Amino acid sequence: MKFVVLTIFPEMFGPFWDHGIIRRAIEQEKIFASTLNIRDFAEDRHQVTDDRPYGGGSGMVMKPDPLAAAIRAAEQDAPSAKKILLTPQGRVFNQKIAHKLASYEELVFVCGRYEGVDERIDHDLIDDEISIGDYVLTGGELAAMVIIDAVTRQIPGTLGGEDAAAKDSFANGLLEHAHYTRPQVFEGKAVPDTLLSGHHEEIENWRLESALMRTLMKRADLLRNKDLNEKEIEMLKKWSRNIQDILNFHHKAHKE
Ligand code: ADE
Repeated sequence: MKFVVLTIFPEMFGPFWDHGIIRRAIEQEKIFASTLNIRDFAEDRHQVTDDRPYGGGSGMVMKPDPLAAAIRAAEQDAPSAKKILLTPQGRVFNQKIAHKLASYEELVFVCGRYEGVDERIDHDLIDDEISIGDYVLTGGELAAMVIIDAVTRQIPGTLGGEDAAAKDSFANGLLEHAHYTRPQVFEGKAVPDTLLSGHHEEIENWRLESALMRTLMKRADLLRNKDLNEKEIEMLKKWSRNIQDILNFHHKAHKE
């Protein structure tokens, strides 16, 4: 996978490329990452990339000419790339989009700054617009990093275990199960016995139940939108029966 990022702050990306999984993916040539400085494509003496908005008002607008030239230069380097503009007006990023983007060979990220980019940077030059959430950042750089990070860990071989990404939160419509590591007892809290049992099937069942429980408690909306399998439905029914038993018991106790 080749990532090309267009930005007026390429220095922001050095530390990002240089750490953790991203760094290892670059070293192992699973990903190729580069930046192009939009300022280098501004033709005036001061290499200006922004200007005042027509019609007046506060804030500055990213000029179309340097940006268009930078996008065309990126196309030379990555001819098959999907070109993505980071903007709060884009479709909201999620794990499904990360998974889909990981299937491309090349991605170009266009980072806006200031109040936004000139409207004429449109579908002739941009294939997709993505937002990382309903809030406004000072630029698209952090959004590009978020997306590159999430996409990279979807690329086979970038994580330790081969199927690690498949077990991520959201991958199967559930949050991920609880995790424990040593010590076996921490501040009086013990690791659940099942995880110490060495019994593979029981551990898998425990993890599914943990994932279901966490999703119900923290993100019930995900459960509503998920195709539940038989095992998952059985687990939910079991809890439902347990809760009903407790309620019945209290109901009786109140009456007496
Ligand atoms: N640029 C400014 N805010 C943004 C957001 N929420 N997502 C993507 N790019 C942005």
